[in-house]
Amino acid sequence: MIYVTRPTLPDIQDYIDQIKGIWERHWLTNNGVLVRQLESELKEYLGVKNLSLVTNATMGILAALYALDLEGEVITTPFTFAATTNVLFMKGLTPVFADVDPETFNIDPVDVERKITKKTSAILAVHVFGNPCNITALEKIAKKYKLKLIFDAAHAFGVRYKGKSICEYGDISVLSFHAVKLFNTVEGGAVITKTKELTHKCELFRNFGFESEEEIVSPGINAKMSEFHAAMGLCNLKSIKKVIEKNKRFFDLYMRLLGGTNVKFQKPEIARVVHTYMPVCFDSKATRDKAHEYLMKSGYSSRKYFYPLTSDFEYLRGKSTKTKIGKELINAKNISDTILCLPLYPTMEKRDIEKICKLVKEVC
Ligand SMILES: Cc1ncc(COP(=O)(O)O)c(C=O)c1O
Repeated sequence: MIYVTRPTLPDIQDYIDQIKGIWERHWLTNNGVLVRQLESELKEYLGVKNLSLVTNATMGILAALYALDLEGEVITTPFTFAATTNVLFMKGLTPVFADVDPETFNIDPVDVERKITKKTSAILAVHVFGNPCNITALEKIAKKYKLKLIFDAAHAFGVRYKGKSICEYGDISVLSFHAVKLFNTVEGGAVITKTKELTHKCELFRNFGFESEEEIVSPGINAKMSEFHAAMGLCNLKSIKKVIEKNKRFFDLYMRLLGGTNVKFQKPEIARVVHTYMPVCFDSKATRDKAHEYLMKSGYSSRKYFYPLTSDFEYLRGKSTKTKIGKELINAKNISDTILCLPLYPTMEKRDIEKICKLVKEVC
């Protein structure tokens, strides 16, 4: 079976060499040497000033919500992974869903502005599949209504926007380093903030709110990255250039082979986008479901990503009377019903992509 993705692993000897020092230091977690080294290397690689590692992006977004001290309603996209919406709910915030742009799949700034009320405290947008949101428009809205702006940048490792890292926009951005992401630390993530003060708040959050040994100054949780995870990150960072290049080559091959068919591609907001996903939309839900099954039968997995919309989660309807379910999420619903992410990872074979495209064309 060819899976939709396959984690990048470093050379095993490289990892062994990296973790040897852990036995010498006997320091396994709690802001160890390797965590600090990875933070420093990532700041340099990404070109960002304030970055803290966390256990995963889910915790990173939760840290952002606490650090910004949000209340009331947060406008967000329903076309995302469960984590984005779940953490809002867990923090006691009300997710208010705005529709997405039918071409870029990202939150539509016009609908965001339409959904603002007196209770709105922030916008939580997602750079879907690493494709940048309409950052300029979202920043303008945030400024006009004095709202905080958070970017779930789980898919956007290494993406640059108008000459700088995409994570330098908004108040806080959060990256995911989960096993299947472009850059992985097995499980992991990073919170990038606009100010040192916000970073300090996120770092308090990731360590139970401890300011010092006997002083807890804010609510916090255990969201610390271990030395073993950081070691994996240090190894994988060495091969990131190759991973990006290979994925791009395969992405371009897909585009070439599927161009001219009636599958629809996500429209890139800007030119330089890294490729972790190969999303395609079919002309109907029935065709999408058929393609999903047909590929599976032929030994290729694909993923209905994101399906269902998070606004359709049963728990939002059942438990919370506060939760505003968007009624008019037509574009999001259409994309969610017709999308399929095809296999894309650097160790794929070219012939697999050719076969997948042939199967997709047969279904079309
Ligand atoms: C858009 C989005 N946000 C958040 C997450 C959560 O990331 P993590 O698994 O690192 O918690 C994911 C995971 O795939 C995601 O796709």
